[in-house]
Amino acid sequence: MTDTLLRGRVLTFHYEPAGPEDTDAYSYIEDGGVLMRDGLIVASGDYESVAADAGDAELIDHRPYLLMAGFIDLHIHFPQVQIVASWGSQLLDWLNGYTFPAEAEYANAQHARAMAGRFCDLLTDHGTTTAVAFCSVHAASAEALFSEADDRNMRMIAGKTMMDRNAPDAVLDTAQSGYDDSKALIERWHGTGRASYAITPRFAITSTPEQLELTGALAGENPDCYIQTHLSENHDEIAFTAELYSDARDYLDVYEGYGLLSPNTLLGHAIHLKDREIGAMADTGAHPVFCPTSNLFLGSGLFDDAGLRARGIQNGIATDIGAGTSYSMLQTLNEGYKILQLQGQKLHTLRAYHWITRGNAEVLGMADKIGTLDAGTEADIVVINARATTAMDVRMDRAKSLSDELFVVQMMGDDRAIAQTYVSGVPQKKETT
Ligand code: GUN
Ligand code: ZN
Repeated sequence: MTDTLLRGRVLTFHYEPAGPEDTDAYSYIEDGGVLMRDGLIVASGDYESVAADAGDAELIDHRPYLLMAGFIDLHIHFPQVQIVASWGSQLLDWLNGYTFPAEAEYANAQHARAMAGRFCDLLTDHGTTTAVAFCSVHAASAEALFSEADDRNMRMIAGKTMMDRNAPDAVLDTAQSGYDDSKALIERWHGTGRASYAITPRFAITSTPEQLELTGALAGENPDCYIQTHLSENHDEIAFTAELYSDARDYLDVYEGYGLLSPNTLLGHAIHLKDREIGAMADTGAHPVFCPTSNLFLGSGLFDDAGLRARGIQNGIATDIGAGTSYSMLQTLNEGYKILQLQGQKLHTLRAYHWITRGNAEVLGMADKIGTLDAGTEADIVVINARATTAMDVRMDRAKSLSDELFVVQMMGDDRAIAQTYVSGVPQKKETT
């Protein structure tokens, strides 16, 4: 297979920048090159030196665009692609009114397969090369998503949702079938190609104690699988959880009691937390996942990024489609910036881009594989055009620094700013520039 050499401005992070002046945290090369072979990055750096070792590699010149690691979305619902922008409700009514009926359709494997193709296209159109996805309760939906991602050599972490109460029959499993189906999917997909399995109890409300017991057993039997769920997103959700699990000290204690907290655990939302819950997250290494567009859309609340970080917790960031309103991790940063502004917290743009690349990779324990342009990592790369729209073009005439440019893209950019996306070294967008 011929090697491919990309030329453009290159930005990659080595650790989370403490602030704008922390230039050791990243490499930025005006005339950079990235050499790709067999789905991996074999060299990156100064164009002349990378090109000198590139032999007869095919050259793709992306100048003056910016090359970065592909974006990572840590929480997204695959069977919610057709309910994005559903009007008028907060979490529990939104789930009952829109979400569960839409997810019921994923019992149909043909529908699931068709939507899996659309879903993966949407991800890469928006520059996302790795996603951590909830599927529906039906094993067929997870099968469809894993197969689609595998066909594209796309890194996908996903799981069949486990839910055995408080929802229509069409989206319920049982404690035993949830365990059995998840186990079979783990055997089939975890570690196959670029797939990893996330054990996926939806949230405390839709699982009986018997189901969470078996979920804990499954997690114990598969300690290198991820666990994903939802936590403390909405006040009515928290009150209902407290009724259902009246012995638990708080919401997080429900999951803790069944052995579901570890550094592999991703807790979507984590907004309205008690001090004890924050301490338990810090102690167990479980990760809250900030979902800004969703939290605004459902009126859920303001995520306390600085407060959690001050306790030594590493937060992820994600779209949460379909309560989230954009597939773009750029738009996710845009709304995230504003949520932090409302609390007097500052999200510096270099930290923001670290977050959606290497930061989320670290949360997954995968920074040696994805999230940077380091040699030896997987060739998932985005090409960013900061002048993609007229409004951006006009604004960019005044941009004076890399940070300026990145902030313009974060606040004004979306899929139009993604000129190209490479997954395992292969371009995914139709119009190559
Ligand atoms: N809590 C339980 N399920 C869901 C879901 O599908 N979306 C969101 N935003 N919160 C949830
Ligand atoms: Zn969610």
